Amino acid sequence: MSTFFTPAFWCKILSMHKPMDIIHQNQLSLKLTEISIRELLFINDTPIEIFGFQDGKFKRILRKNAFINKNTLRDLLAKGHNKLFVYVEERGKLIEHVQSTLLSVTRSLSVGNPVEKGRKQMNLLAINMSYLYQHPTDDDILKLQHQCAKNLAYFLIANVHHHEEIYQGFIKQKHHFIYAQPIISSLFVLGIFKYSQLYSDQEIENYFITSLFKDIGMSAIPVDKYDQDELNDEEKELLRKHAEHSINLLKGRVPLSPNHLTIINNHHSFSLLTSELSTSIIGPNDKDIVAGFETMIISIMDIVSAMISGRPYRKASNLFESLDLIKLLIADQYPQEFRQIVSYFKNFFRG
Ligand SMILES: [Fe+2]
Repeated sequence: MSTFFTPAFWCKILSMHKPMDIIHQNQLSLKLTEISIRELLFINDTPIEIFGFQDGKFKRILRKNAFINKNTLRDLLAKGHNKLFVYVEERGKLIEHVQSTLLSVTRSLSVGNPVEKGRKQMNLLAINMSYLYQHPTDDDILKLQHQCAKNLAYFLIANVHHHEEIYQGFIKQKHHFIYAQPIISSLFVLGIFKYSQLYSDQEIENYFITSLFKDIGMSAIPVDKYDQDELNDEEKELLRKHAEHSINLLKGRVPLSPNHLTIINNHHSFSLLTSELSTSIIGPNDKDIVAGFETMIISIMDIVSAMISGRPYRKASNLFESLDLIKLLIADQYPQEFRQIVSYFKNFFRG
């Protein structure tokens, strides 16, 4: 054995590499930014390199243009890669790739299995919602979200009997509630207006869009703050004014009539004055607001979708509990409408 390749030699080489490795890791920590694993769920390949973080080190786990499917992602999660990263300078390429997939699914909604298509479109819409909340003044993201939401509304109106399956497929992905809740409540809004048989498809589509964009003003607060059960005073004030902020963000950018903007302004009219939701998160209710039937439905569907989905600081309620609260809120003023809501949900959750 050559004296040159002794264990002492390799130890020396390894110890020489260690500082280099530390420098490289430090550089990566400055150059990488975290992404959500959901961004990879509905695309077929990665336009850029994807990194994981394991044993205190960043590690490339997917090369550029790597084919990905559910098994790839399942394997990554099984290996403990629940945090994924990309180069900051390449972040935009992944967003573009996800958005072009959203557009392509939107354009082919009527082709193939409607449940699969609806589920995929709603999930991609939730991901684009996250991009929108991060960049609420970006016209391209807003325009894409609006166009895809209109197509989704059209598709959902034609596929009412698949709503529950699409809903179940959507909630499985556990998107952050800030992005998921407007989509779920808008699905319910569309369903109940269709169920009532009082509105044209065009009117239903407009209420769907109104409901979907009503909370864009919540983007004024970083999303991770909503995971806390208590916001500071400044954040509470921003949240209290989120409907107003939504209108400022939407006016002149999304074709919503003054009536629809008024609905957005009043979309918390039916929150309970004494509930945890209204006092600590939404802010005091204005009891003098005279809200019409459409505002009531949009507000109530928002409450139901909030209650039946969990939060980091509280468990999800069941549908029965949420309808019990809705009864308290509207049954005296709107007895017939309350019965219709109960009947709608009974029909929705047939299983
Ligand atoms: Fe809201």
